Amino acid sequence: MPTAPTSASAGTTPREFATVFRPGRVPVVGRFALAGGMPFQPDAPNTVRSMALSFLPPGGEEWRTGMNNMPVFPVNSARGFYEQLLAFSPDPATGKSDPAKTKAFLAAHPEAARALALIKKREVTSGFANSTFNSLNAFRFVDAAGASAPVRWSVVPVQSVAANAAGQPEAGDENYLFDELIAQIAQHPRQWRLIVTIGQAGDPTNDATQPWPEGRQQVDAGTVTIERASSEDGGRCAAVNYDPLVLPAGIEPSDDPLLSARSAVYARSFRLRAEEEHEKPPSAVTPEEVQAGGKS
Ligand code: HEM
Repeated sequence: MPTAPTSASAGTTPREFATVFRPGRVPVVGRFALAGGMPFQPDAPNTVRSMALSFLPPGGEEWRTGMNNMPVFPVNSARGFYEQLLAFSPDPATGKSDPAKTKAFLAAHPEAARALALIKKREVTSGFANSTFNSLNAFRFVDAAGASAPVRWSVVPVQSVAANAAGQPEAGDENYLFDELIAQIAQHPRQWRLIVTIGQAGDPTNDATQPWPEGRQQVDAGTVTIERASSEDGGRCAAVNYDPLVLPAGIEPSDDPLLSARSAVYARSFRLRAEEEHEKPPSAVTPEEVQAGGKS
């Protein structure tokens, strides 16, 4: 629900690629969320966090990106995602997933088993503001001459990250991650560096379960500054479908099959959400109350 301007940083930027990287400020409308598709789930440290951004450079172009605080994605195909959902969905009788089904899924998808092991080892920070969010999918930067390079990108917090800072919510504090973020933004804008990692020949661009090798060139392409937070009820992000294939000239999709799958399902999900708008209860996250000091 935050809205934010960005400013391109001084120093090296991949400005020969997309206009969004030219020096200057570009407005951004974003959304922080917790994964799982359950709007009223209580905040918990290990739930996957996401940051979605829509950059609006001049000239009517737009760059939308949705990123997660994981190093890799658990699956590398739409079929794999579907099978993962079936395997891990809780049995209504026990409230837990069926170990036989999850075991069979992991045996059939060794790439998911490897990715989940990396995800389990990831550093979980105390909140949204000190989390790193990763594109996970690969894209291509294409310059005016048609030369292209595979890329992945991340936003890396400027706010300090204390080691092992996985904050535990106090009992009953179901929105602690969002309330803390809202209070922090009200106090001072929060910032992330936009870091682009340039892949080399042979780095997998069609498999989001695989990290790229250490030591790849990284370019600091600017600063994302979040200046204001608002509730999603009536907030500007509510009208945005963070489709990862809305890209400006100079950024193109890779051959990752998840990209077209995401584009298709986000459209469907957005439409379903829009259709139930009239019966949706108000958001449990209330920036106005937090900012007024009613919550901290
Ligand atoms: C690299 C892999 C992926 C990343 C980084 C990613 C990231 C995200 C993010 C950041 C959001 C929240 C967007 C927002 O706040 O509006 C989101 C939502 C969602 N994701 Fe993904 N996702 C990935 C793969 C997938 C796949 C493979 C599927 C299913 C085929 C999927 C299904 C969904 C759905 C249905 C939503 C809700 C969209 C909405 O209602 O607007 N995601 N994802």
